[in-house]
Amino acid sequence: MADVETRVVRSRSALRSSYAELAPGARRVLVPTMGALHAGHAALLREGRRLAGPDGHVTASVFVNPTQFGPNEDLDKYPRTLEADVDTCAREGVDLVFAPSADVVYRGGDPLVTVDPGPLGTLLEGAVRPGHFRGVLTVVQKLLHLTGADVLLLGEKDYQQLVLIKRMVFDLDLPVEVVGVPTVRDADGLALSSRNRYLSAEERALALTVPHALDVGSGVARNGGSARDVVSAVQAFLDDHAGLVTDYAVVTDPALGAPPEQGEARLLLAVRVGSTRLLDNAALHLGGGS
Ligand code: PAF
Repeated sequence: MADVETRVVRSRSALRSSYAELAPGARRVLVPTMGALHAGHAALLREGRRLAGPDGHVTASVFVNPTQFGPNEDLDKYPRTLEADVDTCAREGVDLVFAPSADVVYRGGDPLVTVDPGPLGTLLEGAVRPGHFRGVLTVVQKLLHLTGADVLLLGEKDYQQLVLIKRMVFDLDLPVEVVGVPTVRDADGLALSSRNRYLSAEERALALTVPHALDVGSGVARNGGSARDVVSAVQAFLDDHAGLVTDYAVVTDPALGAPPEQGEARLLLAVRVGSTRLLDNAALHLGGGS
């Protein structure tokens, strides 16, 4: 257990006062979350603590950001578990939990000026959830400004989000280093997600098709299959499982562009099981080898 006292602040002024106490030049690490923290978040927080070092400072934000939810999405029923989240943060050595309300973050109501995610924001998740990435990038940029973070940690499970945030930082010259942290899985392979708690036992069993489909795709790539071969095998595998609806199964290059004939690529899946959407992805090496 890390020897750190975790403070919880909800307002901009309390956040500013906390940072005013920091030694000049102390490394500031931000782990942005929407709460309902699980072992995947704990891994992000742990890595954040490691990167901050004993003299640095780790902030975890816990904010269910309304602007990234569509009108028919789960904003109202999204799990809110702040007390347990603060315990998790304390266990992982987080210095500060920033848990603002929507009117603290969006003090003038819905923002008139937002971050345009550009063409990458209209693909995949962006096609299924119009406006989602505009909300994500806008809140992440606000959190970066509010916290003055030098390092930002994000999970690889939301791979498109990670790529888009890296791209925003690059294109807008934001002074922050973005670090992606590998997906944490249950022992049976299911990627951890705050939304897994919506799954019934039957749906949870069916959800395992998703990591299995990634294994199918990785196997095809290892055996020299092309991006197209990977997608056909994965789609056929998913189609074999009644009760799943595939939103997309695609192979891209690591930056979400067209897949290469040979070399590093990414397999991205979004599948619906009942009313729950599951996202997962895997790194591939096309053209044989690993
Ligand atoms: O990945 C999430 O939990 C959210 O999209 C994020 C990055 C905290 C922004 O609200």
